Amino acid sequence: MFHCSECGHGSVKWLGKCPTCGVWESFVEEKNIVTSKKVRLVGSKNPPVLLKDVVSDPVMRIPIGLADLDRLLGQGLVPGEVILIGGEPGVGKSTLLLEASSHLSKKDKTLYVSAEESPQQILLRAKRLEKDFSKLFIVGEDNLDEIFEYVKQGNFKFIVVDSIQVMYCPRYEGFKGSVSQIRGCAEYLTYMAKTLGVIVFIVGHVTKEGIIAGPKLLEHIVDCVLYFEGEIISNYRILRAIKNRFGATGDIAVFEMGSYGLREVKKTDELFLPHRDSAIPGSCVTCVIEGVRPMLIELQSLVSRANFGVARRRSLGFDFNRFSLLIAIIEKRLKISLSSEDVFLNIAGGLKVTDPSADLAASMAIISSSKDKVIEGNLIFIAEVGLAGELRRVNNINMRLKEAKRAGFDVCFIPESNLKEVDKSIDVKVKGVGSLGEVVNTCFC
Ligand code: TYD
Ligand code: MG
Repeated sequence: MFHCSECGHGSVKWLGKCPTCGVWESFVEEKNIVTSKKVRLVGSKNPPVLLKDVVSDPVMRIPIGLADLDRLLGQGLVPGEVILIGGEPGVGKSTLLLEASSHLSKKDKTLYVSAEESPQQILLRAKRLEKDFSKLFIVGEDNLDEIFEYVKQGNFKFIVVDSIQVMYCPRYEGFKGSVSQIRGCAEYLTYMAKTLGVIVFIVGHVTKEGIIAGPKLLEHIVDCVLYFEGEIISNYRILRAIKNRFGATGDIAVFEMGSYGLREVKKTDELFLPHRDSAIPGSCVTCVIEGVRPMLIELQSLVSRANFGVARRRSLGFDFNRFSLLIAIIEKRLKISLSSEDVFLNIAGGLKVTDPSADLAASMAIISSSKDKVIEGNLIFIAEVGLAGELRRVNNINMRLKEAKRAGFDVCFIPESNLKEVDKSIDVKVKGVGSLGEVVNTCFC
């Protein structure tokens, strides 16, 4: 059997290009990806029982002590939980987990398994963080069988494995970092967590191209997946919960990388609203809800005459298909021709937005830039745009309005269909609008 070393796609014959992740020459032959004859990792036999007879077990939460991380995890850790932290090299995975380990080591025995860096290197980093590491154990070991023994004998409760790509489990075939080893190590660590009742953090590296190298293979094995996103060039790091068996997904936490490690950023306005005080054409503000948290973000667009042949379209942080759809809607419904214009759309601060309520603001940013007219700085636009140019209802409108009010916005454009649920006690002027055309006429008349 051949497997793609990037995403794990299996094929009976060698392929030059992986049909799943599109990477060239990534196929390697691996015999028996899971050697099930040698290991049976599921615990003792559990006969079927009626669901009504299952004794409910109140989930015990263990807060780490880093408020944002705890919120992402669903108010703390659950015994036996396995958490995967993914991100590009250098984004701050080891720093975050070392900080978390300092807090955890005060609660119970904590082991930091550092297979990537030597204990001396970790010590240097720890000194930089200026936290109390007096109770933290560290081991420079890459063999998981040995780790299992250490954890069992040392009665450790919290384990950090940094990183899965350099771990090795003799029970599985393949070399370090291969698909079978990465998957095998994750399965073995999950088995360890469930049988010994310990909590395991796994670090997984991700390549520039996306969330595929290694960690993607593991998402279904672990309980919780957190990914670092955002640009490494800026000091800000966004941690997003992609999967969580014990909490909400989609939620994000923002950290700032400073000389003393990662600090939580409570107020994100400065980061995501950089041009709050200077009105420029092509800039528009909305309030999105990522997970459970309302956030004000600025969308910036640049529309300029295309010089060579086909007009270019690029979006950063905003789904490209939605962006193309919005351009088509603007051209068809508002009769604004963009076919010979390059159109760029960017979300300030390196955030990736999935909430469709940013549609109206994205459209307004594009129109503002194409008309070269400024949108007043005290306006905010919240709505999903339909194919006919109509504005669709969004969820949690009051939460968004409160956030807009807090940041000092005066007028909120929202879909007409949301008007009846608006909480009158929020002291902000609300304008219910039915279509994109109506908003354009009001703002650029
Ligand atoms: P690191 O946690 O090693 O990243 P990862 O484990 O994801 O590969 O973070 C490395 C980067 O962070 C490195 O470029 C140095 C920087 N850094 C700081 O800016 N401040 C700090 O206090 C620390 C510990 C690291
Ligand atoms: Mg690291």
